[in-house]
Amino acid sequence: MDLRLLAAAPTDVERDAVDAFLGLPKDRDGDRIDQASGRVALGGHQMRAERHRLLPALHALRNARGWISEGGLAYVCERLTVPPAEAYGVATFYALLGLHERPNRVVHVCDDIMCARQSEATIIHLESDGVSVVRSPCLGGCSNPAATLEDAVGSTFASGSETPPVPQERDGLRLLCRIGVVDPTSIGDYEEHGGFSALRRARELGPEQVLAELERSNLRGRGGAAFPTAVKWRGVRAAAGAVKHVIANGDESEPGTFKDRVLMEADPFALVEGLLIAAEATGATKAWIYVRAEYPTAIERLGAAIAAIETAGWNDGLDIELRVGAGAYICGEETSLFASIEGQRGEPRQKPPFPTTSGLFGQPTAINNIETLVAVLDVIERGAKAFAAIGTKDSTGPKLFSVSGDVHRPGVYELPFGTPLGEFIALAGGAEGQIGAVLLGGAAGTFIGPDDLDFELSIEGANGVGAMLGSGAVMVFNDSTNFGTVVRRIAAFFRDESCGKCVPCRIGTVRQEEALIRLAEGTVIGSIESEVRLLADIDAVMTDASICGLGRTAASAVRSAIALELAGVIT
Ligand SMILES: Cc1cc2nc3c(=O)[nH]c(=O)nc-3n(C[C@H](O)[C@H](O)[C@H](O)COP(=O)(O)O)c2cc1C
Ligand code: SF4
Ligand code: FES
Repeated sequence: MDLRLLAAAPTDVERDAVDAFLGLPKDRDGDRIDQASGRVALGGHQMRAERHRLLPALHALRNARGWISEGGLAYVCERLTVPPAEAYGVATFYALLGLHERPNRVVHVCDDIMCARQSEATIIHLESDGVSVVRSPCLGGCSNPAATLEDAVGSTFASGSETPPVPQERDGLRLLCRIGVVDPTSIGDYEEHGGFSALRRARELGPEQVLAELERSNLRGRGGAAFPTAVKWRGVRAAAGAVKHVIANGDESEPGTFKDRVLMEADPFALVEGLLIAAEATGATKAWIYVRAEYPTAIERLGAAIAAIETAGWNDGLDIELRVGAGAYICGEETSLFASIEGQRGEPRQKPPFPTTSGLFGQPTAINNIETLVAVLDVIERGAKAFAAIGTKDSTGPKLFSVSGDVHRPGVYELPFGTPLGEFIALAGGAEGQIGAVLLGGAAGTFIGPDDLDFELSIEGANGVGAMLGSGAVMVFNDSTNFGTVVRRIAAFFRDESCGKCVPCRIGTVRQEEALIRLAEGTVIGSIESEVRLLADIDAVMTDASICGLGRTAASAVRSAIALELAGVIT
């Protein structure tokens, strides 16, 4: 590969930060670069092999200086043999990687759906103290608004919010039983609380029996699509290829969702144990955990848990790598996540081919949600029969729900599938005021009216009222809510997070937001009816023709809010 580099030079701080991550260059000042032409020549194979280190190298630059200068970017390009235009494309893809000089300390303040009411006061307070504020989408601290994230030069991010609460008694819980009970930094304490017994059993059973057990349990993925885990794992096991991957998807960026955060921060060893079982069952040769940068506590604890597990030898030689996102909701979509690890812009790919045969680096890959992997422990430890006895016929096992908004006890709850929504809200302390509507499944979800609270929280129950459980977000709004403000924030979220790869979503999310603003401001084009028809058209095009789930669900909340005639949306 013949590569034309940028002329700008890095500062010493930037060079040291990149070298600290990549190691000292073998041919420093060296032979690779032709000083006269500024070109660098390296083999294509070597270039491709290094590319996946691009995002962590950009993080190293960001941590060192707070932003990525042209000289810093040039140095990363030289070290990894990445064309500058491509590195620029990657750096500009992520909200948390800036390419312009910025103050040494910045605080990201969530002004998303659940924090919007408190965010203005928080911003005024911070700005009056001279702090630079950046508005942010959901930071996973929705139970305690407004959530914040510290971002200071010379350090990694620091969360402004505690691990969200688990207000339930732990007795009888399967997924949350260790939360707040076990020391998340101690492998010994984890073992004393039953840790690794599922892995031991999985190794006794062997891959075939683990898969059979999973099949009998009917465990379906908890990341939103509800795909049967056994089918996915079998697909990877059967796929041809010497290198196979398992990935834990900890990108959790759906507004209103913070259940995976609780698991990763308060029970990190359990996630790694679930991932090791996935690797055994699928025959994977490499394991990855991808966590959003906005969860620094989870990143720190998972890093320590991986190190302790490797030291203790539980990984049986399997390499487990922790990767950190950089502020992009779309990177939770599985194929975008692959692209992000590979050092490309986090844009989704067309499916098929499916990840089971062509996933990360084009190799067979099983990617699972964090909660799914923790649920696997319960299936293996207590057996498929006991697992399937919980919940309903098609939605087996326990399920985590993140509840926020106008309830007395927000937090993460574990419920058997099939629990009526109203019963769940009562468990969460009941609503503050009269319920106006509940947004189920986050920004990509559906509003449920106060007359539908008896429906069952299960995959089939949600389908029955035209909703999706999605990631298990339950956002409760009382009847004093201006739902127009809420849907406009949702529309702004999708407009901002659309990766722009396909036209229906790239244009549709902008047009949707514009129409909602015109309705709010009374500046309609034509009539209110024609604007509502336009919204329905945009909805149909995005839902039918978008490449990925982001575009396909970007109109869902708006559609349901209009159908329920929620206050403030149309008038
Ligand atoms: C826009 C978008 C964002 C997503 N974000 C996440 C996420 O943060 N975590 C997650 O587990 N799945 C997320 N998913 C679903 C993943 O693509 C994938 O289905 C899931 O990780 C598979 O795991 P599971 O089978 O255990 O549910 C997202 C999907 C879309 C379309
Ligand atoms: S639907 Fe949206 S997020 Fe998905 S690929 Fe298309 S533009 Fe990107
Ligand atoms: S942290 Fe603000 S909406 Fe989730």
